[in-house]
Amino acid sequence: MIIAIDGPAGSGKSSLSRELAEKSDFTYLDTGAMYRALTLLCLERGIDPRDEDVVERVAQHLDISFADAPKGTEQNAEGASETGQRVFANGQEVTDAIRTAEVDENVSLVALHPNIRKIMVEKQRVFAKGANIIAEGRDIGTVVFPQAEVKVFLSADAKARATRRTIEREGGDPTAPGAAVKDKAFFEKTYADILKRDKIDEERCASPLKPALDAKLLDTTHLTLAQAVDTVLKWAEAARAQAAQ
Ligand code: CDP
Ligand code: CDP
Repeated sequence: MIIAIDGPAGSGKSSLSRELAEKSDFTYLDTGAMYRALTLLCLERGIDPRDEDVVERVAQHLDISFADAPKGTEQNAEGASETGQRVFANGQEVTDAIRTAEVDENVSLVALHPNIRKIMVEKQRVFAKGANIIAEGRDIGTVVFPQAEVKVFLSADAKARATRRTIEREGGDPTAPGAAVKDKAFFEKTYADILKRDKIDEERCASPLKPALDAKLLDTTHLTLAQAVDTVLKWAEAARAQAAQ
């Protein structure tokens, strides 16, 4: 069975997917981490993210793998390991390095190119073969796994998403009571980045960010993480029961 979770930055995809995976026998696939790792390798090599041919060659040789982070390391001081998974690209650990402002600023440009998306989608399908998967990203329900039994499209007010991401990057926990942004200027920068990325992701020709026709919509602006998890667990149980009939 496949559960597809799509939505814009900060809508709660990673935390929801991680919780669902912990409460079930599903394996978690963070496709955003894959685009981030490719972006990081390009930046390290001085490659222009807009140069499709060169980025494509890097993508072809990208060997990406994940490992569960030991308990207690879900969030480091910078909030970098926000998905609770360790990420490796070509043997090098990139868990923290893929969650920087520089990668944030460039990743949507890398993810624009159709040929690069084809390579990444192929890797995602290989990863999922024969497994129960919770996959999260932007095009999971529409392109990567259109056959997914459960499709969820998360949304949340852009300011709420930027607030969550800022607190997280400042080392805090946005779900904690009274959690607040410390650095207003950093919030404004994060907010601008999120709006810019949303626009590029929504307007690109190849696999734009949009809900699949059969996706269930969930606005998390005023939901706690636990409420979102409960809702999607119920949808997954209903899909399982339907499949068993
Ligand atoms: O964590 P956050 O939501 O900020 O981003 P992410 O899920 O790590 O994804 C980073 C970027 O990768 C997105 O802004 C998209 O440009 C791209 N992406 C994509 O195009 N398709 C996916 N399936 C996943 C991510
Ligand atoms: O993966 P995505 O970028 O969609 O979002 P995320 O990384 O799961 O969530 C961004 C931050 O918002 C995390 O620190 C979550 O704990 C927090 N969050 C929240 O405060 N309320 C929710 N309903 C969902 C997530």
